[in-house]
Amino acid sequence: MEASGILIKGGKVVNEDCSVISDIYIKNGKIVEVGRDLQIPAGVRVIDATDKLVIPGGIDTHTHMELEFMGTTTVDDFHIGTKAALAGGTTMILDFVIPQKGKSLLEAYHCLRRTADPKVCCDYSVHVAVTWWSDEIKKEMEILAKEKGVNSFKMFMAYKGMFMLQDSELYAAFSQCKEIGAIAQVHAENGDLIAEGAKKMLSMGIRGPEGHELCRPEEVEAEATQRAITIAHAVNCPLYVVHVMSKSAAKVVSDARRQGHVVFGEPIAAGLGTDGTHYWHKEWAHAAGFVMGPPLRPDPSTPGYLMDLLANDDLSVTGTDNCTFSVCQKALGKDDFTKIPNGVNGVEDRMSVIWEKGVQSGKMDENRFVAVTSSNAAKIFNFYPQKGRIAKNSDADVVIWDPKLTRKISAKTHHQAVDYNIFEGMECHGVPVITISRGKVVYEEGRLNVSPGHGRFIHRTPFSEFVYKRIKQREQVGKPTAVIRKPYEGKVISV
Ligand code: URP
Ligand code: ZN
Ligand code: ZN
Ligand code: ZN
Repeated sequence: MEASGILIKGGKVVNEDCSVISDIYIKNGKIVEVGRDLQIPAGVRVIDATDKLVIPGGIDTHTHMELEFMGTTTVDDFHIGTKAALAGGTTMILDFVIPQKGKSLLEAYHCLRRTADPKVCCDYSVHVAVTWWSDEIKKEMEILAKEKGVNSFKMFMAYKGMFMLQDSELYAAFSQCKEIGAIAQVHAENGDLIAEGAKKMLSMGIRGPEGHELCRPEEVEAEATQRAITIAHAVNCPLYVVHVMSKSAAKVVSDARRQGHVVFGEPIAAGLGTDGTHYWHKEWAHAAGFVMGPPLRPDPSTPGYLMDLLANDDLSVTGTDNCTFSVCQKALGKDDFTKIPNGVNGVEDRMSVIWEKGVQSGKMDENRFVAVTSSNAAKIFNFYPQKGRIAKNSDADVVIWDPKLTRKISAKTHHQAVDYNIFEGMECHGVPVITISRGKVVYEEGRLNVSPGHGRFIHRTPFSEFVYKRIKQREQVGKPTAVIRKPYEGKVISV
């Protein structure tokens, strides 16, 4: 925290609903005042933001720092990963607790907190994955929602034998989410079809990264997305589809929203910024670098389509699924694509990629940019306007953004631990020139100045109004009732 405060002068303050030239006074980790010509005590650091935008720090809804997965551990840990986030203008991440099948959610939650709390450089919170079902899990979900600051639970429809739930288990988990005021999240891919598809590809001698996409084409994602929406609707539970990667799955989400379903779709930086043609690259390491689930799609019109839907509120919010494995870790699958650890980078580059492909391209304005990079996440996961807004009393997570500056993305200059970058060479307009986290300037002139443990865990309460207002009302008015009849008094056959 900056001892005597910070005054950001003359910038254009951009929120999700409007932009206005204004000063901001920050003290003790909070935004104390927003307005013109603020009278500020001596000793305050003044930052001139003329011709720059002043935006809420980015919120990445989907990361996996130091996750043990597919036989290895992601290289971006909570320290390096959150530092890289700050360098890219992201001041909060939502990571995942993913317990092994049969293990306690609460123990896994405490384990992650013990690891992350002393390391994080920006604020963070967690979604918890439900990887198996029992009465104990049901109880633990309630404790997590009531006492541990968790209001979102991810269910996997893929990763057969590892994390995948059956439809009846999804029904039970979604019902419990509704009961405790949480948001059900799904990894929507048909795990049975993927398992069969993988066997088929291997039997045909297709062992390289292209097999990863070929065994799970986009209808495998679209089918699961539709199924999850149907199950969620059956129990009147809000649904959040993580990493929407294909045009057909995005269309399913969009159609459901237009039918009035309470469903949110999360495209990720990778899906908005690049595509699955890389799986056919001749160099194995290059192709393997893009392997993630669901896969990037070879249809090159996919990123533009996803951006169109994001711009128009058919999709709601953006994450990255940052889950980084270096090339030598990816090489666990050098002879068999099913063994390539799934995951790509994004946490550092999400803001610039979305600015370039969304705002610079003319698809969305600066306000929609703020909505999809921070405000909507804060609303859905119930910490708005603490974050996701530049306003009096909000957390001082602020980015001074230069929309005219450009930078070229490269593994040579990024701050992440991973040794390649899926956006290598991409020229982006939109550069964070200063990042302020919890009232402290943590990134400036290309340099990071932050220590592990600077960030805090953000406790989230259940029943987010943004999500639950409609759900609660429907619960009241939508109950089916029995028809009152006289008893049937005719003959009944004997059996
Ligand atoms: O490839 C991915 N997405 N890795 C992380 C695990 C997940 O499904 O989110
Ligand atoms: Zn997933
Ligand atoms: Zn390529
Ligand atoms: Zn993920």
